[in-house]
Amino acid sequence: MTTIPTVTLNNGVPIPQLGFGTYKIGDDETRDAVLSALEAGYRHIDTAQMYRNERGVGDAIAASGLPRGEVFVTSKLNNGHHAYDDALASFDRTLSELQLEFVDLFLIHWPLPAVGRYLEAWRALEEILRSGRARAIGVSNFQPAHLRTLLDESTVVPAVNQIEMHPWFTNADVRYFDESHGITTEAWSPLGRGAVLEDPVITGIAEDHGATPAQVVLAWHLARGVVVIPKSVTPSRIASNLRAVDVELSEDEVAAITALDRGERQGSHPDTENRTDR
Ligand SMILES: NC(=O)c1ccc[n+]([C@@H]2O[C@H](COP(=O)([O-])OP(=O)(O)OC[C@H]3O[C@@H](n4cnc5c(N)ncnc54)[C@H](OP(=O)(O)O)[C@@H]3O)[C@@H](O)[C@H]2O)c1
Repeated sequence: MTTIPTVTLNNGVPIPQLGFGTYKIGDDETRDAVLSALEAGYRHIDTAQMYRNERGVGDAIAASGLPRGEVFVTSKLNNGHHAYDDALASFDRTLSELQLEFVDLFLIHWPLPAVGRYLEAWRALEEILRSGRARAIGVSNFQPAHLRTLLDESTVVPAVNQIEMHPWFTNADVRYFDESHGITTEAWSPLGRGAVLEDPVITGIAEDHGATPAQVVLAWHLARGVVVIPKSVTPSRIASNLRAVDVELSEDEVAAITALDRGERQGSHPDTENRTDR
């Protein structure tokens, strides 16, 4: 079976560098997709309260028969729950949906700067960490300004910042800030939701390696030390994406892919995303 590399978070907890994303997989389809992923060898599953599929993720983990300690599970605090008590209550529901006693990582999903309560939400995550019901806590979609405020006003440094990142949007300033502060960067939409897979630079490198374009893009993230969580509901893609760990790119190939950056996001900008109703 494929060996997946791990990255050690700033509190010593290891995270498998290649995990499985579940955004837009409906709760009914999630069990099968996550079970396929676990059977293919993934040991890291990314979900969120917002995806409304934590139950399916929990069902798949239970059905896999894997010992709890072998699967790294991440979930995220939804946007409507930044108030301290709401955050704690929604985390209880997360554990109950996942049918788990603890998660490995719990993140604030979006900073929502116009709402202005992410420090309050962070206090709740710090409490969850202290209670042992999350092995690590972190954030998602935090820009350097949001991280600076968090670092100035709190004691626990986020273990992870999960941000949009792919060859057309390398998000270099956020990655640099994370790196300089001991925060592990995780890439969401690591395949640019499929959009980057026909880029001729990527298809050319894929041909040279006898690999798929998706494997090349994932291998690029891995070579840069980033944690990736590609999503697929297609069993053959789920399995082949994991084998990206066997693709070794040269420094020149990594640089050529990095140079494809066009500053083109697939998702919302964290400074202006303020919806609390999802
Ligand atoms: N924190 C956040 O705000 C945030 C935001 C977005 C996403 N995320 C997380 O990041 C995960 C990944 O991001 P994402 O789902 O937006 O996008 P993604 O993983 O970049 O791309 C998923 C898309 O690529 C297709 N695909 C997967 N493997 C492929 C392959 N080998 N060849 C061709 N197409 C392939 C999938 O199709 P099929 O499924 O049809 O196979 C799907 O349409 C999410 O699932 C979620 O867990 C987090």
